[in-house]
Amino acid sequence: MKPRILVARPIFPQVLEKLARHFEVRANQEDATWTPQGWVQALADCQGALTTGADPIRADVLAACPDLRICANMAVGFNNFDVPAMTAAKVLATNTPDVLTETTADFGFALMMATARRMTESEHYLRAGLWSQWRYDLFAGAEVHGSTLGILGMGRIGQAIARRGALGFGMKVLYHNRSPLPAQTEADLGARWVSKNELFEQADHVVLVLPYSPAVHHIVGAAELALMKPTATLVNIARGGIVDEDALMAALRGGRISAAGLDVFEGEPAFKPGWLALKNVVLTPHIASATMATRLKMADLAADNLIAFFEQGRAITPLNEVAA
Ligand code: GLV
Repeated sequence: MKPRILVARPIFPQVLEKLARHFEVRANQEDATWTPQGWVQALADCQGALTTGADPIRADVLAACPDLRICANMAVGFNNFDVPAMTAAKVLATNTPDVLTETTADFGFALMMATARRMTESEHYLRAGLWSQWRYDLFAGAEVHGSTLGILGMGRIGQAIARRGALGFGMKVLYHNRSPLPAQTEADLGARWVSKNELFEQADHVVLVLPYSPAVHHIVGAAELALMKPTATLVNIARGGIVDEDALMAALRGGRISAAGLDVFEGEPAFKPGWLALKNVVLTPHIASATMATRLKMADLAADNLIAFFEQGRAITPLNEVAA
């Protein structure tokens, strides 16, 4: 008998076909929204799942799904997983690192530029028919080239953003991570480790790329925003919970910082209506890895993790170790 797997969200048909050669597939191609009970019901008799960052695998779900052996997340982030609880329940967790690094870095950089150069705000103005004449300061934004980029979280994506800034735009690149990178990597990237406070004080553009965990919940709040230059911008492509959104809204309303670009929100896809009332924010619906080519690579890697686990006893990109 083939193992039964749940594919939680619609996926590329060719990936579904590949999965169907190895598994009995329960697919959600019609994109049904699960209630918490519906989610558990759909998963309860499955041995594996291809999940997205929106699908929770926590102790209560695990308790209701005794046959589950692996959850393959189609995302590099995995804050929808309670990994210790999965390990305790002998459920393997996998994610999709590397395949999305450059695409996500492209988007982080684009969001930083759109935020600095007021691209969506000015487009709304044009679309509203408000453009009547030239002005020397019409939507004048902040300089990107030659400015100081501050990256919080210097993993693979942070480093790819650093390269874009240093090599492409002549930016001075500062970063903060729990520990500094090896000196040679820093030299190759043209990046320098600074304390978190120094990062917020000195950067013209701060980009948040650190993985979410409860330990970094609201790691950017009123105190950090108070350190920033009034002309500075903040971009979040990490997870909504990294930023205290009320503090950020207050900072944007009060001109404490100049603008923000947000691809992620706490509680997404719901978000605070206050964001819509602010002109100095660029808002996108968690699409940093969204090119068709990269999403296909992510789906393929998630599928290959399931296949390798069930057929070779070893996943390609595991997040935990589980005794067989
Ligand atoms: C997207 O946010 C991901 O974690 O892949």
